[in-house]
Amino acid sequence: MERVASKEEVRQAVLAAKREGKRVALVPTMGALHDGHLSLVRAACERADYVVVSIFVNPTQFGPGEDFEAYPRDLDRDMQLLRAEGADLLFTPSTASMYAADAQVEVAPGPLGTLWEGAIRPGHFAGVCTVVSKLFNIVLSDLAFFGEKDFQQLTIIKRMVCDLDFPVRVVPCPIVREPDGLALSSRNAYLSPDERRAATVLYRALRTAETLALGGEHDVALIAEAMRECVAEEPLATLDYAAVVDPATLVEPATLDRPARAIIAARLGATRLIDNMQLTTGA
Ligand code: PAF
Repeated sequence: MERVASKEEVRQAVLAAKREGKRVALVPTMGALHDGHLSLVRAACERADYVVVSIFVNPTQFGPGEDFEAYPRDLDRDMQLLRAEGADLLFTPSTASMYAADAQVEVAPGPLGTLWEGAIRPGHFAGVCTVVSKLFNIVLSDLAFFGEKDFQQLTIIKRMVCDLDFPVRVVPCPIVREPDGLALSSRNAYLSPDERRAATVLYRALRTAETLALGGEHDVALIAEAMRECVAEEPLATLDYAAVVDPATLVEPATLDRPARAIIAARLGATRLIDNMQLTTGA
């Protein structure tokens, strides 16, 4: 696996791959790779002939007081993992090359970016949309792989690709979980042993919602309340939100009469975790 840092090098490498008739995939990441990221790389290797992984801790998607400085970084380990998975090219741009000092234009996520995570992290999705647009324009891949763990991000990126006519197919990949249900996240590394044990409450709340939906419960408010009650029983967790939403609009439907998504965000000490699960209605 080759590693390049300049836009020109990544463009040349992708052009050469395309000239050979290869289908090109991009897996955008911020590094600190875990099995969730590697599942994206595996899916990309299955669906494409040339797999580009980007590692860039994007400053514009972190708000003031968030964990940009502390965000885990271990490039040597990430490179070993990516080599083992068979990725073809690693793109590690510098911040200066991604953001000119006089840059002015950013990509607005629209109303979807103001809900849930967007309400708590103002500007976050503008940062995500801007960097993902830039990566799409730099790499010009045929496919781009994103995890369902960041469900709102995935929904917004799909909308962006559609609304702005990016010539790329977004491929969603399922959440990878620890055996006790905790969704893999680079931020799990911040949890103390007690917080790590308590963090499974997000999964338990989602399973509560899933069980109610499968049992034929159509009352969305009741399902969301059951999730909130579940989190309230865990003293180390502070809930930010728990809701059942339409997967495309992220708005709460009146009743659960079609597949929806249960979404949840909670804080364990200083660490914010998010998770989600598809809900299908029972009888
Ligand atoms: O999901 C992430 O790791 C980031 O938000 C992404 C898509 C790489 C953009 O910085």
